[in-house]
Amino acid sequence: MCSIIGYLGNSSAAPLLVDGLGRMEYRGYDSVGIATLNDGKLLIKKGVGKVAQVSATLNLKEMIGEVGIGHTRWATHGAVTVTNAHPHFGCKVGVVVVHNGIIENYHVLKEELVKQGHVFKSETDSEVIAHLLEHYWSLKNDAKEAMINTCNRLIGSFAFVAVFDDSTLCGARYDEPLIVGITNDGYFVSSDVLGFLKYTDNAIFLDNRDIVMLKGNTLSLFDFDGRDVVRIPTKVAKELGDTDKGLYAHYTLKEIHEQKNTINKSIQQNKESVEKFCNLLKGGKDVFITGSGTSYHSALLAKYILSRYSKLRVEAIMSSEFQYSSELLDKNSVLIAISQSGETADVLQSVKKAKEKGATVLSIVNVSTSSLARLSDCSLEVKCGPEVGVAATKSFTSQIAVLYYVADTIGSNFTGITTDMAELSTAVEETLRLETRIAEVAKEVKNAKDIYILGRSIHLPICLEGALKIKELAYIHAEGMAAGEMKHGPLALIDKNSVVVVLNPNDSTYTDTVSNASVLKSRGAKVISITSKCDPTYDYCIAIPSIRESLLPFVEIIPLQLLAYFLALYNNIDPDYPRNLAKSVTVK
Ligand code: F6R
Repeated sequence: MCSIIGYLGNSSAAPLLVDGLGRMEYRGYDSVGIATLNDGKLLIKKGVGKVAQVSATLNLKEMIGEVGIGHTRWATHGAVTVTNAHPHFGCKVGVVVVHNGIIENYHVLKEELVKQGHVFKSETDSEVIAHLLEHYWSLKNDAKEAMINTCNRLIGSFAFVAVFDDSTLCGARYDEPLIVGITNDGYFVSSDVLGFLKYTDNAIFLDNRDIVMLKGNTLSLFDFDGRDVVRIPTKVAKELGDTDKGLYAHYTLKEIHEQKNTINKSIQQNKESVEKFCNLLKGGKDVFITGSGTSYHSALLAKYILSRYSKLRVEAIMSSEFQYSSELLDKNSVLIAISQSGETADVLQSVKKAKEKGATVLSIVNVSTSSLARLSDCSLEVKCGPEVGVAATKSFTSQIAVLYYVADTIGSNFTGITTDMAELSTAVEETLRLETRIAEVAKEVKNAKDIYILGRSIHLPICLEGALKIKELAYIHAEGMAAGEMKHGPLALIDKNSVVVVLNPNDSTYTDTVSNASVLKSRGAKVISITSKCDPTYDYCIAIPSIRESLLPFVEIIPLQLLAYFLALYNNIDPDYPRNLAKSVTVK
């Protein structure tokens, strides 16, 4: 949830670090800090705010030195303040560190270090790493020993990068990602390949318990026991680095529009991988499907699709709850884990649980080099390109496209994702042209305090996903609900201030949904319909194209994404960086 980066080489470190942090800002953006080593002295600058803003105010790029580290923070321990921002150091500035993760035993370690005379400045768990490194470094001035001893004291999840004042740059990884980028004249160590992909596609993905030590031209790799380890560098797909906003005002809007190509791209899968995936899936006695947030909504939709079209009995469980509902999992079970980043802690924990029980793990990920992809028995890539906007948009439609494709490969009934792709692409383009209409509707309801989104059947996961978009982008309370459930209680909430959106395409759910909507209308609610057949019940209709029933979720989510986007703009919120959120949630 924080991003960390280090550089050691022949170039000036600070501009490279600032640039890398900017590209990884999706991981956290409440504060920023850089440290560089110049003439044996470590200099630190940090501030509260986003990378560009802090960099401009503190002239971060002008910091001198050819070795350095940087950090963007997503606060877990301690408020958003300059003192809590990274890099951290011990009592003297002989070694500085940036950390991503959570140190669970930091209270115990802190108490021990305080007894030894260490003085702590921040409220963060990360600062204990700095004091431990300082302690071990002061004993022998041996960076390798200091790293090994420190790592062996830490409990929790961590990736950290440290600079010692003898010009050694080190990184260590346990349950948080850390990747080494090798350029012609130096090295990066970073949370995400995006941190260095502009300069090199030659990368080493560290494993758990790996430590990398860089000094001069030498790279050494060893584990927490000090044993040498060998990791083969791999080439990373360059297109992962394509993170420009282009002509769009926001990444979120750009990524919503990219769906006209990404859905199609997602079903261009390698046939052998899909076959392997489907064979493993069919071989399972029970099938569980998991994900968090938006990816959980993909899982919910997949449950409908896989049972309807592939005749598979599937249970969808949100990843943060998976550990409490996995009793039935055994070696004959299959778990499908869905994740855009492939680094979500809750998802990885579910996968570990499934592996402990001997189950087969399949995954659907956007980042093919992620921890999830590497932990899986078989993984399919969604191929929608980097998603920078914190709210998931194009990754959702790509995830479901892959799941539909899997359903078609297994099933005897077809969803239509392959046969009707041309029609679907046209429908997506037509839906994107509704932008002006959606902006008008958003203006009408921009002051809503509560928005309910209702639908039936395969439209229900889209209601949940639409509500999530409105909550995170526009900070408006929104709830997705089964249209038929309103009358069983929530109807008591409806009055003339309520705004209701109904997903009411002209399909098998049409008539029942219209009558649910008219009950709400007669209680005073303002009702917006996303529909292919407008009914006089509705105050506003957003007219989506008619398309095969199974494919409707693709064209229904786009108006909801755009509605959330415009509600954010009308409420003066930056949709790319919603408050309190980070794109990659690597804490439990
Ligand atoms: C919502 C959103 C989050 C993520 C969730 C899982 O817009 O972005 O709810 O969907 O944190 O992330 P991944 O898919 O990376 O596992």
